[in-house]
Amino acid sequence: MTHLQQDQTRPHAETTPFSIEMPHALRLIDTHFGIDRILRDTGRDILKPYYAQSKHGYLRLNSHRGCMHISLNPDGHFDPDGHFTQIREVSDQIRQIGARNILELGSGMGFNALSLADMHQDVRITGLDLLPQHVKTARKAARARSNVSFTQASYEDVPESLYGVDLVFAIETLCYASDPDRAARHIAAALVPGGRFVMYDGFRRPDFDAAPEDVITASRLFEVSMAVTSGFWRCADWEAALERAGLRVLRSQDLTRDSIACMRKYQARAVKLLTTPKYAALRYLMPKYLLGNAIAGLTGPFAIEGTTPNTGRSEASITYNLILAEKPA
Ligand SMILES: C[S@@+](CC[C@H](N)C(=O)[O-])C[C@H]1O[C@@H](n2cnc3c(N)ncnc32)[C@H](O)[C@@H]1O
Repeated sequence: MTHLQQDQTRPHAETTPFSIEMPHALRLIDTHFGIDRILRDTGRDILKPYYAQSKHGYLRLNSHRGCMHISLNPDGHFDPDGHFTQIREVSDQIRQIGARNILELGSGMGFNALSLADMHQDVRITGLDLLPQHVKTARKAARARSNVSFTQASYEDVPESLYGVDLVFAIETLCYASDPDRAARHIAAALVPGGRFVMYDGFRRPDFDAAPEDVITASRLFEVSMAVTSGFWRCADWEAALERAGLRVLRSQDLTRDSIACMRKYQARAVKLLTTPKYAALRYLMPKYLLGNAIAGLTGPFAIEGTTPNTGRSEASITYNLILAEKPA
């Protein structure tokens, strides 16, 4: 039997038990870190220390090539190739509209822009990120390429010199926006008529507040531990902001199920780090926000699946979605 055939017979990750039950996970977090203490960061701007402390964790544990987003695996089996799912969608859009000039918002360490620059030698891509350390890393990686560059700026203040592009995309970054309308206006202004916008991100379900209290606590821990301290936006907030800015939403797709395998993998790793005695010294030495990623790993599956694998999705409170929009020609 080939590797591929074996994969097809293995059950989807959602049908397997969690690596830890939610009450145990919350007790563990409370004992080690104090839930109230973690949630004290709610609403605070911790972006800089979070990314400064997490950089090597991302490089070591998520992708040595600097990918800072989740892997999407529709078949329910984790495969790091799923980190390219979002990039392939952007690539399809480039082909569909014949895009030549592209702007990436929140380009991080450059993984997406660099991959797309290699896939489409005839396009010109600019990556924009708020944090100088990310721009520096991305620029270093881009040295051998002539069709990609990186700029330090906020997507809530895109320099007009970057306007006039055929496609704008943003992967797991607009969750940090303080004002979707402001960012959406820049996106609309940056696009030429007929240009497209692709966004992937986590969102709160419309009925987030009706989720069981412990699921909300797990979800808040998940958000704050990834520096999304004011919580994820709702998908409808972004759709409305884009429409108000003059874009037309072409597709809004819930991809939460495709994210389960990756989230389960992060959870298994977090359980290992937080419960194995031999890692006690490491836990003690790790900086606060780097360790926060283990809290996000522990709680992520409860946030997106609810408390019971395969049956609890109605209790879940966070989704992962794609929004595709167009500026009318
Ligand atoms: C989770 S990382 C994703 C990076 C990249 N999109 C990827 O897929 O690998 C989020 C990125 O958003 C950036 N970011 C946060 N707020 C921003 C803002 N207002 N303007 C530009 N970038 C921002 C962060 O510095 C970080 O690099």
